Amino acid sequence: MGQLKLSTDLWSSQTVFILAAVGSAVGLGNLWKFPYITGENGGGAFVLVYLACVLLIGIPVLMSEIALGRAGKANPVQAMSNLARENGASRLWALLGLNGVLAGALILSFYTVIAGWAVSYFFQSFSGAFVDMNASEANSHFDALMANPYELLFWHTVMSLVTILIVSKGVKAGLERAINLMLPALLLILLVLLGYATTTGAFGKSFNFLFAADFSKLTWESVLIAMGHAFFTLSIGLGTMMVYGSYLSQKSSIVKASLWIAFADTAIALIAGLVIFSIVFSNGLEAGSGPGLLFETLPVAFGQMAGGWFFGTLFFALVVMAALSSAISLIEPVVSWFDQNWGIKREKAVWILGTLIWVFGIGTVLSFNVWQDVHFLGEKTFFGTVDYLTSNIMLPLGGLLMAVFMAWVMTKEQIKTQIDLSSGWMKWFILDLKWLSPIAVLVVSSSGLVASESVLIMVAISLFLYGAYVWNVTRKN
Ligand code: PFF
Repeated sequence: MGQLKLSTDLWSSQTVFILAAVGSAVGLGNLWKFPYITGENGGGAFVLVYLACVLLIGIPVLMSEIALGRAGKANPVQAMSNLARENGASRLWALLGLNGVLAGALILSFYTVIAGWAVSYFFQSFSGAFVDMNASEANSHFDALMANPYELLFWHTVMSLVTILIVSKGVKAGLERAINLMLPALLLILLVLLGYATTTGAFGKSFNFLFAADFSKLTWESVLIAMGHAFFTLSIGLGTMMVYGSYLSQKSSIVKASLWIAFADTAIALIAGLVIFSIVFSNGLEAGSGPGLLFETLPVAFGQMAGGWFFGTLFFALVVMAALSSAISLIEPVVSWFDQNWGIKREKAVWILGTLIWVFGIGTVLSFNVWQDVHFLGEKTFFGTVDYLTSNIMLPLGGLLMAVFMAWVMTKEQIKTQIDLSSGWMKWFILDLKWLSPIAVLVVSSSGLVASESVLIMVAISLFLYGAYVWNVTRKN
């Protein structure tokens, strides 16, 4: 084992940190996942739950995660171990970092596959393949791509290689430069598309779909999906924000940065939703068509509208850029762990890990064709299983434990040096982390995961375990 190192590679300014964190947060989650899960879960009420989760759980956990990274001064595993030692808590807290490092690698394994679809669609849109396309052609076009494992593997490989090349250049030379270029372009393209959406004639319908809440369509499972998505879209619960926080100078305001990140991420998801549903409704397409929503319906819309070639190509370029700035942040926690704890140089670590993750991603490639009838956890494919385990279990669990550590293990003084809130807001912040967020995560997870008749028992057991756990932690303090 090599010499242990701490994070020293500081972002060149607070703005650069915010850009990087927004780059991580804004990705396939906003442009591909948010619209399709909103479509599947009935629109308004689901969006409302998601917004409540961002506000009440997401933002406090985001602030905590960045703070834990900056205070722990290292990758998630080492940062948690440093902070636990400093506070006389169990060294087992390092497992929380390990959960994150693993979740990041697992998410990346399917992330590059789906981002690969967008690369393929970008080239096809550019070549004019979508001009005059109708719904059934678009459907068979998407099905043909899904049915071809070699093509999926090719684009998965392209995305993996680009991610590896950027991350191997290091924080300043690689991450910052990539993000500085991508983020402004992304915002610009989205605004152009928003302008277009207002001219489709279905902007009002799209607005209503997203914001008029019909609670009869909401189930516990959809509440769990909304909560899991709040974690996924803000990139929290797995250590990405922790490792980005470890590169943040003590002078920067974590509160201000977190509010910007959450605002930008939410605004971009809602704008993307407005754009996508305007196009969907104005073409009489189906909102709840599932993971294919972006890829099966938009080419039809782009194929039929004036300037569709231009808007379509821009749109898929936007998806690819957004995915890339998230992909690089998914691998950063595990790479910095290898670099700092195991003495494996960044460049070598990225290649080794990137290759392993790429191999695991082949499982996702095959889920859409050769392995489409291979099921885990009931009806889920390999991809469905990895997505479900990470978004709905590992991230909320990681976020819950971060909240617990921040509020119950860190001292008031330590929290105050990281979180620049007034004393009134600080009280709310701690109350939220101590009780509201953990209980909400436990209740929603247990209700969403188990059959309805067992819900109450599961909730009771979870609350009991949480109480016992907190009692144990505070006793050690
Ligand atoms: N937030 C990203 C998205 O919305 O696509 C996905 C993601 C990136 C999740 C980084 C978690 C993470 F650490």
